Amino acid sequence: MDVKEYLKAKKEIVEKALDLYLPGEDAEPKIIHEAMRYSVFAGGKRIRPILVIASAEAVGGNEETVLPAACALEMIHTYSLIHDDLPAMDNDDYRRGKPTNHKVFGEAMAILAGDALLTHAFGVITRCSGKVDDSSIMMVLRELSEAAGSMGMVGGQVMDILSEGKEINGEELQFIHRHKTGCLFRASIRTGAILSGANHEKLAALTAYAEHLGLAFQIIDDILDVTGNEKKLGKKTGSDIKKQKATYPALYGLEKSRELAKKEIESAVESLKGLGAAADPLRGIALYLGKRDS
Ligand code: IPE
Ligand code: IPE
Ligand code: MG
Ligand code: MG
Ligand code: MG
Repeated sequence: MDVKEYLKAKKEIVEKALDLYLPGEDAEPKIIHEAMRYSVFAGGKRIRPILVIASAEAVGGNEETVLPAACALEMIHTYSLIHDDLPAMDNDDYRRGKPTNHKVFGEAMAILAGDALLTHAFGVITRCSGKVDDSSIMMVLRELSEAAGSMGMVGGQVMDILSEGKEINGEELQFIHRHKTGCLFRASIRTGAILSGANHEKLAALTAYAEHLGLAFQIIDDILDVTGNEKKLGKKTGSDIKKQKATYPALYGLEKSRELAKKEIESAVESLKGLGAAADPLRGIALYLGKRDS
């Protein structure tokens, strides 16, 4: 299969649906809807929503059914980026190839745009109703609230901030990465599977895939902050060193970090061994992300 073609096709579908599920730019107060749409449509690889879809397909589900949930994941992710870039957090000026939300709309609006994207996402999930049974929607709502909150992404961000300028060990670093990034990957993949009625065994395999992939993704993000191209990445490099962030390259060096990421990618693919050809897009995505430069 051609994974690049797959990603491109799904990205287009996701972006059309995002436009549909977000409040219109003309809705009052206009400024907040402009700010929300600015960051959502600034660019972005749409990896998390595509993982929702690919995971659904891997267990015999279909894209149309899970599309609202896929969009919700991208809204939650975009909110996390807007807040991550704030002066009180990573203080970054560029994101997705454009000035960050607070640079354009000011800090107050950026905080509110993030809040609004997060809360709106939970309503969008309920649009899956009618296509799948409501008990799986309830499961997904719980899954997402835990993955996004203090036991998940926010918890990871807390430890990321508290670890600035400190020496932490490998276990603590892994905790940060598994939470700040891994939890939304895990939730994306589990959401696609749960809404598609995956059995326990398949859900467990997909969860293992997601945990390995999410960790690899953040290790590679750390590596790209050292070695990457700003234009390709759409964000400034060297940001982690400036903030004395706890990262894989800082703790292990570049070469060892690359090795560790590669091992996680291999384990992600290995986790899918019980799933058939329907999981080929997930296999392809993992290998592709292992080699990404943006
Ligand atoms: C960036 O995520 C933040 C991390 C969790 C590493 P992405 O690299 O998926 O960013 P976009 O969505 O493509 O902009
Ligand atoms: C991102 O970690 C984690 C979240 C946004 C939840 P980073 O701070 O490393 O992400 P970038 O490098 O700014 O995209
Ligand atoms: Mg950060
Ligand atoms: Mg950051
Ligand atoms: Mg980073």
